[in-house]
Amino acid sequence: MRSIVPDYLTDVLGDVESDASGETAGYIPELAAADPERLGAVFATVDGEVYGVGDIDAEFTIQSISKPFAYAMALADRGFDSVLAKVGVEPSGEAFNEISLESDTGRPRNPMINAGAITTHSLVGPVGLTPAERVERVVQGLSAFAGRQLRVDETICASEMASAHRNLAIAHMLRSHGILAEDPRAVVDGYIRQCSVLVTTRDLAMMAATLANRGVNPLSNEQVVDQTVVRQVLSVMATCGMYDAAGDWATQVGIPAKSGVAGGLIGALPGQLGIATFSPRLDVHGNSVRGVSLFERFSSDMGLHVMEVPPTARAVVRSNRVRTGADGATRLFRFQGAIRFAGAERIVREILETAPSEPRVVLDVSLVHSIDDVARRMLLEAARRLAQDGHEVIFVDPEAMIPADLGEKLW
Ligand code: DON
Repeated sequence: MRSIVPDYLTDVLGDVESDASGETAGYIPELAAADPERLGAVFATVDGEVYGVGDIDAEFTIQSISKPFAYAMALADRGFDSVLAKVGVEPSGEAFNEISLESDTGRPRNPMINAGAITTHSLVGPVGLTPAERVERVVQGLSAFAGRQLRVDETICASEMASAHRNLAIAHMLRSHGILAEDPRAVVDGYIRQCSVLVTTRDLAMMAATLANRGVNPLSNEQVVDQTVVRQVLSVMATCGMYDAAGDWATQVGIPAKSGVAGGLIGALPGQLGIATFSPRLDVHGNSVRGVSLFERFSSDMGLHVMEVPPTARAVVRSNRVRTGADGATRLFRFQGAIRFAGAERIVREILETAPSEPRVVLDVSLVHSIDDVARRMLLEAARRLAQDGHEVIFVDPEAMIPADLGEKLW
């Protein structure tokens, strides 16, 4: 049998191929001259399978897709409080290069618009790095997300730097508000180097898959950043990643995403996969025209909207019966699947409604393949309460998903 996913990708790429609307980024001469016909798409699963069709190994500059990853590095290197003191998390509803800051704090509204991204760049690495050392930290960090060594395209970097008046204006404004504490030109130079890192569509899909996989690169298995950082980054991508098209994107596509003016676009679907597309012609928001169409198709055809999730809670109780043996009656509850709060609540309700009268109660989790911390503590609390009521409680837990410590507090 042939694999289904590449055939699907080939079909969808064929459907959008003829759309020649939009323009390549005109404000960076080297990008304006890019081949507008390039088209590629990659799905990378969280267990490291990569499906790609089209120009997936052609290199182009990462541009604004670097922003969520630099944000992740700043959060990891400086901590949440230091970063949040300087960059907010509110959608701006404005263009990516708007010259605006929050009126009361002087902070950029979020790390996805240029004002926030320039500030974020300045917060990568420990305090006291030179601008060159900071760029090195950024390039190494992006490489860890991609799982291979990346490099800066000096020609595109110089091309953008030569006409970076708007970003310089933003950086000077940040300096005047005390948000930037150093030479604005050096920070913009570093930020533009960050934007000029060369990637392929395959790299971008792997970077997105690392976010989808709780910060662990699916191929190298490196924990690049921790889960709390990933949660913050994905939240900001979901609300601000597509700039002033963020609301349309959230409703129509519903995948945390980030675009770049070279034509790249990524989406990270937590627990499932990273997606990347490449097509250089852009719409008025600076997002790839065919990339947006591809993501709309992927989301609707494959049911990838993050708000569309199956009702897993109902299915967690597999069976509830009494077994009678020589040693008397035992109440046997068997659970299955992935258990989070709603599943654990369903289990607790099943136990309550059953009100077991048998002296022994077995809680069998051998068919449970994942359980989060809240659900684990709720099950332990249910076991503790059953024991308090006089039952002998036995967990069947061959994979040690529920550690035996019954003394832990639930909240
Ligand atoms: O700051 C800039 O203008 C660019 N180097 C990056 C902008 C970008 O990719 C915007 N996103 N679509």
